[in-house]
Amino acid sequence: MLTSKTLAVNEILETSFPKSDDLRNQPKSIEILHYLSKKLDPERLDHVISVQETAVKLARYHNADVWKVNLAALLHDVAKWMSDDQLYKAVSRFEIELDPIEKTMPALLHAIVGVKNAIELFKVTDLDILEAIRCHTTGNASMGLTAKLIYVADFAEPNRLYKEAKQVRQVAEEDLNQAVHWVAQHKIGFLLQNDGIIHPNTIHTYNSTFPNLDRYKPKR
Ligand SMILES: [Fe+2]
Ligand SMILES: [Fe+2]
Repeated sequence: MLTSKTLAVNEILETSFPKSDDLRNQPKSIEILHYLSKKLDPERLDHVISVQETAVKLARYHNADVWKVNLAALLHDVAKWMSDDQLYKAVSRFEIELDPIEKTMPALLHAIVGVKNAIELFKVTDLDILEAIRCHTTGNASMGLTAKLIYVADFAEPNRLYKEAKQVRQVAEEDLNQAVHWVAQHKIGFLLQNDGIIHPNTIHTYNSTFPNLDRYKPKR
């Protein structure tokens, strides 16, 4: 049940920040959505809209720049329509250096090529937005606020059917680092259960957000 305090906070959040719909009606958002609606299948497009709504809502709770979060969310899967072959060709065209694990995992490449697409197609130069696109699959130990919000929203948007999505959404409003930690934990668990390769950045994300990390420091 919503308490009067929660209702008051929600009212302030609703009135003092732009709404998801308003953000989607910005000229840059319209341009990106026009592109995505031609390139992505309807299910993927629904996912992107849902990530945008989830990330913008969380941005309000964490006092983030909603304009940046909006664009980062809309762009995070901008290269998701590309086949593995197209992604590897784009990696070559953009002269991107892949690490040994990225070379073997085409599923990671849309985040890397997506950064180049955002710059080339939409003239996005904001480093927070580009970092969020780049990190949305593996995470990174040094993610900024925008990147953390997209990492969490991508995993936990309401169209995601696994039970962990709801748990992460619930904790994300109160404690974003805990939410990032759980996302990394769930991804690592899934990959272990399915004999998948774990990118080191996912492990770094998990370790860097460990609650009470201090208790693991050696005692002097
Ligand atoms: Fe993605
Ligand atoms: Fe996504």
